[in-house]
Amino acid sequence: MKNKIIAGNWKMNKTRIEAEQLINALIPLVKGTKNTVVICVPFTDLCKAVKLTKGTNIHVGAQNCHWKESGAFTGEIAPSMLTELGVEYVVIGHSERRTYFGETDATVLARTKAALAAGLKPIVCIGETLEERNSGNMEKVLQRQVREGFKDVTEEELANIVVAYEPVWAIGTGVTATDEQANDAIAFVRSVFADMYGKEAAEKLYIQYGGSMNDKNAEGLLNMSEIDGGLIGGASLVAEKFAAVVNAHK
Ligand code: PGA
Repeated sequence: MKNKIIAGNWKMNKTRIEAEQLINALIPLVKGTKNTVVICVPFTDLCKAVKLTKGTNIHVGAQNCHWKESGAFTGEIAPSMLTELGVEYVVIGHSERRTYFGETDATVLARTKAALAAGLKPIVCIGETLEERNSGNMEKVLQRQVREGFKDVTEEELANIVVAYEPVWAIGTGVTATDEQANDAIAFVRSVFADMYGKEAAEKLYIQYGGSMNDKNAEGLLNMSEIDGGLIGGASLVAEKFAAVVNAHK
């Protein structure tokens, strides 16, 4: 089994002062882990986060980036603006971006390619809604998100990507997928990648689970064979809870 990549997705939470408190509390709690620890913070917290985590085992990520390097795109942030700060990861295509901000598989692909070109590691999110799952369309939706969202991604680039499988019905709802549901869906996603890139590349690919993962259920999820880590929202806002997720896998 690989070591895990545990990423906190703070979403639109934590002012700069709150971020400082959370990071300072987190640093000693996760320093002994073998897992990779990432915190994906709001743009306004990035500078602070990079500075505070320097010399620690915590990596910093953003929550979005644009597909162009500069230009007339009011409100957007270019990948190089992130790398210049020392940011290493970026969440792309989160379901909240897809639902509220019109992200499509095509914009997800464009943002992913731009992030890779700048040297960022994208955490690309996919996942089905409850309606899609209940109507028997889960595999179809996941298949489309992977085939369209990774259409122009090369095998070399895939090695720098983390995929987050996040069933939309489990995000922020307190309803977690069971260990088996998460494992089965990720096994399916991996099989699609195997079809596109070959078995070896698909096996190496990190695929996280996300959706109401917390200090209580992390151990079970992280011990499943297909689950290579977690993308954690709500529970990443409390240092002790996030640290417990990080430390749930030894
Ligand atoms: P949640 O969010 O842990 O609060 O469900 C996960 C996510 O959206 O990445």
